Parts: sequence; structure tokens; C-alpha cells
Amino acid sequence: MSGQWRSLHFAGARAPFLRRTLPALLFLCPLLAAPESPAASDVQDSCVDCHSDPDFLVTNRKLYDYFQKWTESIHKQEDVTCTDCHGGDPGVADKTRSHEGDLQASKRSSAVNFRNVPQTCGECHDEIYDGFRKSSHFEHVVAKKQEDQGPTCVTCHGSINVSVLNVNSVEQTCSRCHNDESENHPDTPEKARSLLNRFLSIHRYYRYIAVRGDPVETREFFEAVDAAIRDLSVTWHTFDLSEIEEKTAAILDTVKQKRGEVARAYKMKRQERDEQRKAGAAKE
Ligand code: HEC
Ligand code: HEC
Ligand code: HEC
Ligand code: HEC
Ligand code: HEC
Repeated sequence: MSGQWRSLHFAGARAPFLRRTLPALLFLCPLLAAPESPAASDVQDSCVDCHSDPDFLVTNRKLYDYFQKWTESIHKQEDVTCTDCHGGDPGVADKTRSHEGDLQASKRSSAVNFRNVPQTCGECHDEIYDGFRKSSHFEHVVAKKQEDQGPTCVTCHGSINVSVLNVNSVEQTCSRCHNDESENHPDTPEKARSLLNRFLSIHRYYRYIAVRGDPVETREFFEAVDAAIRDLSVTWHTFDLSEIEEKTAAILDTVKQKRGEVARAYKMKRQERDEQRKAGAAKE
């Protein structure tokens, strides 16, 4: 369900994720759960109310930019708000009381401190978090020496306005740490790019089947492929490149074979239609 899949999944493909997270979100945000009932206080979300103040453009440009990034993000579209990642109390308008706890990213106990980022994001992206915890990246998030430090979710995806790595961006992201100078697995960026490149072929076959295939007959097929793709996303976060390669190849094989079947069936249908038309013309 990553960026590269967004355009090709059917609307329902994202539903399992939402079905899991939405109840959790609603539970966390009673104001969201009952939008039509008058809230206990007049404050809907004090973080958004106050941080959206356009005066910050002049008085605190950095703060203003953070808010703008959120308004453009997929998280905003999905009703993931400041409190979901930062904590604090969105029910009070006063800044100091609303900013309860450590909100500054540099503070050790802040939810967005680099040490805590995987867990904070993992509240919702739980399967990916489980995969990530198996990686040597996770072990290295808290390395003693700066040059040994591993990436967190934010290193690869950004923080507020997240994006998914694709064949164009992945090499640059990995080579920040994996390069000839660092001597830390320098062949990794190119390998990652070529693995994501195969997604493009999968994408192409998948679309063909979606357009030409019989919707009823292909339903089970798509359910199985969507599940395999979700599983592959989790495996990506273990960064076990040979397992990623195996799973990518298996999905590619499956969609390629199905595309062949669909293409043959489509061709036969057209031939039948042409013959019927010819027979009809001969009678006249
Ligand atoms: C009444 C206005 C107001 C409210 C309400 C408010 N903020 Fe802020 N926030 C600010 C200002 C102004 C700053 C800039 C630093 C400062 O002045 O404390 C800031 C800074 C921050 C920072 C940067 C870290 C820091 O402390 O400087 C974060 C993160 C943050 N706010 C998140 C939130 C969240 C989450 C909420 C809701 C739970 C919230 N804010 C509610 C005005 C507000
Ligand atoms: C999806 C999670 C997420 C959401 C939603 C989110 N943030 Fe953040 N934010 C982060 C992360 C992670 C960082 C720390 C990394 C960075 O600075 O980019 C951060 C950093 C910040 C900072 C700078 C903190 C510092 O100490 O320098 C501010 C200010 C901020 N966010 C405000 C907000 C406001 C206001 C909202 C809601 C309108 C919001 N954020 C929504 C994840 C989020
Ligand atoms: C409160 C729940 C929640 C939290 C916390 C959260 N996310 Fe998300 N995130 C979502 C939802 C919902 C979506 C949209 C459904 C999807 O694509 O999986 C999403 C989508 C994404 C995407 C996919 C974007 C795309 O274009 O397809 C990435 C990457 C992502 N989040 C990263 C993060 C990172 C990094 C953090 C922590 C800084 C984080 N998320 C925190 C709920 C959350
Ligand atoms: C912020 C630095 C950083 C970034 C960015 C980064 N890595 Fe790593 N990576 C590390 C560190 C540190 C290690 C651990 C090296 C070791 O084991 O000695 C590592 C190890 C690995 C390993 C070896 C895993 C193992 O179990 O032996 C792979 C594969 C890997 N990274 C893939 C990637 C890919 C793919 C990307 C880009 C999508 C990436 N890395 C981005 C720092 C980074
Ligand atoms: C070293 C870089 C790296 C790190 C660290 C990383 N990711 Fe990813 N992430 C990727 C790559 C590469 C993909 C693309 C593979 C794919 O599309 O499945 C991806 C895809 C995703 C997606 C989209 C997949 C989907 O099924 O919707 C989400 C969401 C996501 N990552 C969240 C996270 C979270 C949360 C963390 C931290 C716990 C994290 N990532 C850590 C590189 C990284």
C-alpha cells in the first residue's frame, strides 16, 4: 500500500489497514468519534487552532512551515493530527498547559526524539514497526558513534509530510550512509534501486489485469497479491535484501503469469466476436 501502489490499488485495498487503525484513532480522539455531539469544551484541537495562526509566517517562520507541511500531508488527509505524534493536550487553549510533557524533539522523552520515533510511528504502522525491530538499522538507532548510527522512519520518509521511497529516490537516501567512503555495505543503494525497479513491472502487469480481467474472476487473485505486497512492505523494513528479492520475484512471477492468462482469454473473446460478426454479415 505504498506510494507506488496508491494509484493501482482498488479503493478497498487500503481498507484492512484502516479497519485496524480507525477504531484506535477514534478511541484516542473522542472529539472525532462524536463530531455531531457538542464537545465538553469549545476547544476542538488547540494545537491546530493555535499553530494555524498566519502571524507565525512573520514571527516564527520555522513553526509556520511545520504547520504548512502537515496541511499538505497524507496524515492530515487521514485525520492524523499533531497530538497523535507529539502528545500534549489538545483540549486546552493555553499554550503551556497544552504543551504538557516534552514536546521539543531534542528532549530524550519527546515522542519525536529520534530514539522514540520508531515506536511513535509504530503505534499505527505496527506491522512495519515489527519488521523494523528485526533490522540491524533498529539496533543501530542508538549507536554510540554518530557515524555508526542507523536510520529511523524519519530519515527515510520525512516526519510530517511523509513520502514513500521509489525507484528515483531510494538510491540517494541509502547512499547517505552506504557509500565507498563509509565502507558500510556500499553496494546497497544500487541493489535497493534495482529491487524497487521491479515494482514498476509488477505495477504494469497488475494494471493490465485490472483493466482487461474479469472483475469477479480476478477478485481472489487481487486479494492474494495485495496481501503479498503488504507482506513485502514489512519485509522491506527488516532490510534483509535476499528475502526481499525472493518475495519480489515471486510476486512478479505471479502477476506475469496471470497477465498471460488474461491476455489469452481477451484475445479469444475478440476472435469469437469477430467470427460472429462475419457470420452475421454472410447471412445478409
Ligand atoms: C496558544 C498557542 C499554542 C497551542 C495551543 C499549542 N502550541 Fe505548540 N507552539 C506554540 C508556539 C508559539 C511555539 C513556539 C515555541 C514557544 O513559543 O513555546 C510552539 C512550539 C511547539 C512545538 C516545538 C517544540 C517547542 O516546544 O518549541 C511543538 C512540537 C508543538 N508546539 C506542538 C504542539 C501540540 C502537539 C499542541 C497541542 C497538544 C500545541 N503545540 C499547542 C503555540 C501553541
Ligand atoms: C506523523 C507524525 C507527525 C504529525 C502528524 C505531526 N508531527 Fe510534528 N514532528 C514529527 C516528527 C517525527 C518531528 C521531529 C523530526 C523533525 O524535526 O522533522 C516533528 C517536529 C515538529 C516540530 C519541530 C520540533 C522541534 O523541537 O524542533 C514542530 C514545531 C512540529 N513538529 C509541529 C507539529 C504540529 C503543529 C503538528 C500538527 C499541525 C504536527 N507537528 C504534526 C511528527 C509529526
Ligand atoms: C495515528 C496513526 C499514525 C501515526 C502515529 C503515523 N501514521 Fe503514517 N499513516 C497513517 C495512515 C492512516 C496512513 C494512510 C494509510 C496508508 O497509506 O498506510 C499513513 C501513511 C503513511 C505513509 C505512506 C504515505 C504514502 O504516500 O503512501 C508513510 C510513509 C507514513 N505514514 C509514515 C509515518 C511516519 C514516518 C510516522 C511517524 C513520524 C507515522 N507515519 C505516524 C497513520 C499514522
Ligand atoms: C543513517 C544511516 C543509514 C541510512 C540512511 C541507511 N542505512 Fe542501512 N545501515 C546503516 C548502519 C549503521 C548499518 C549497520 C552496519 C553494520 O552492521 O555494521 C546498516 C546496515 C544495512 C544493511 C545490512 C543489514 C545486515 O543485517 O547486515 C542493509 C542491507 C542496509 N543497511 C540497507 C539499507 C537500505 C536499502 C537503505 C536505504 C533505503 C539504508 N540501508 C539506509 C545505516 C544506514
Ligand atoms: C532505511 C530506510 C527506511 C526506514 C528506516 C524506514 N522505511 Fe519505510 N519504507 C522504506 C522503503 C524502501 C519503502 C518502499 C517499499 C514498499 O513500497 O513497500 C518503505 C515503505 C513504507 C511505507 C509504505 C508501505 C505501505 O504498505 O503502505 C510505510 C507506511 C513505511 N515505510 C513506514 C515506515 C515506518 C513507520 C518506519 C519506522 C518504524 C519506516 N518506514 C522506516 C524505507 C525505510
